[in-house]
Amino acid sequence: MYLTREEERILSGYEGEAKALAIKTLVKVGEALGAERLIPIKHAHVSGISYGTIGEHGLALLEELVEKGARVEVPTTVNPIGFDSEEPSLMSHIGVRLDDEFVKGQMRIVKALRAMGAQTTLTCTPYYLPDTRFLKPGDSVSWGESSAILYGNSVIGIRTNREGGPLALMSAIVGKTYYWGLHIDENRKPTTGFKVDHNEPLDEVMAGLLGKLVAERYAGVRPPYVKVALRDELAVKEMLAAVGAAGSLAMIYLDGITGPSIDIVKLERFETIDWRELASLYEEHKPSEKPDVVFLGCPHSRAEDLARLAKLLEGKPEPKSKIVITLSRSEYRRFRESYPEYLGVLKEKAVIVRDTCLIVSPFGRDDSGLTVVTNSYKAYFYLSKRGLKVGLSTIEDMIPLLYM
Ligand code: F3S
Repeated sequence: MYLTREEERILSGYEGEAKALAIKTLVKVGEALGAERLIPIKHAHVSGISYGTIGEHGLALLEELVEKGARVEVPTTVNPIGFDSEEPSLMSHIGVRLDDEFVKGQMRIVKALRAMGAQTTLTCTPYYLPDTRFLKPGDSVSWGESSAILYGNSVIGIRTNREGGPLALMSAIVGKTYYWGLHIDENRKPTTGFKVDHNEPLDEVMAGLLGKLVAERYAGVRPPYVKVALRDELAVKEMLAAVGAAGSLAMIYLDGITGPSIDIVKLERFETIDWRELASLYEEHKPSEKPDVVFLGCPHSRAEDLARLAKLLEGKPEPKSKIVITLSRSEYRRFRESYPEYLGVLKEKAVIVRDTCLIVSPFGRDDSGLTVVTNSYKAYFYLSKRGLKVGLSTIEDMIPLLYM
């Protein structure tokens, strides 16, 4: 790989041991992929920071980096952790018992990231944070967290490969990434396409199931072109998260969102997805019994989603199932400020947890008999793997389920 004089200096350790280690990692990965050089990035998002996921080994690496003087060179945000950082006890309301070792280990991870200069935003939706509004289409970034990567590439138009958390952190420390994959114009152009033969816009559950089908039918560096009507922002977010969970894609070219319509005749392959196939998948994934928990917020909810749920719950009696909502601290603040009229309803009827989600927390680990209903295919995917009984439902269809 060609390195500038400045990069050679970093590699030789003139800017410290941590930065040398970080650039060495980037060069190794880049060379393995055939990248010719490094390019600057404007932002990094680090995933995989839950103590439950990375444990003592991950914590040791982070603390070693701090000890070696690591500092991030670009604005850096981070993914959720295993509990609400300000109110860990909230987790007990959703049946999660946190032991001391977990809490201490998790807070040491947060401390190490802070010491490196990362903003401990603790959310998987960095694209909703005011801190990322400066990013413009075409900007190269280094993001971990598949759902955010897909949203960044497909909706905002920023450029990132599908990085793992450690590599995104190394990029943050150097302020660069290897020039490969989706950083290159040509690789962002689709050669394959999918279309859904239905004109009604898909809700968030149908959109998620479509994301699963697309990811299972196509894997490649280039994004597939997808022509489909999606009902709203929630459907867009859920579809992209499902694509990330069910396969290896880092981007899809969504007609009218990523860019203008593409002439399908010019694509090498084009497939129509039968609406009836999607509808029968929907049937298969419908909840079959009374839920213990109704979960909203994978990826993290927006203030608007909370308002939508609150409006539906207004004037209704106490739900028989537990409602759990996960979101970022920043979006929770926006909800309180923008929809003060709904705060009371939600506080009374739901458990609102910030900084975490059911998947990165130890939720359900000791109680695999739990039944969960969610509107997120990604949450369905991971919670089912944990052995829980999971069903899919839109926010609107969740309401009758709460009173079964
Ligand atoms: Fe976010 Fe947790 Fe889902 S990190 S994307 S809410 S699995």
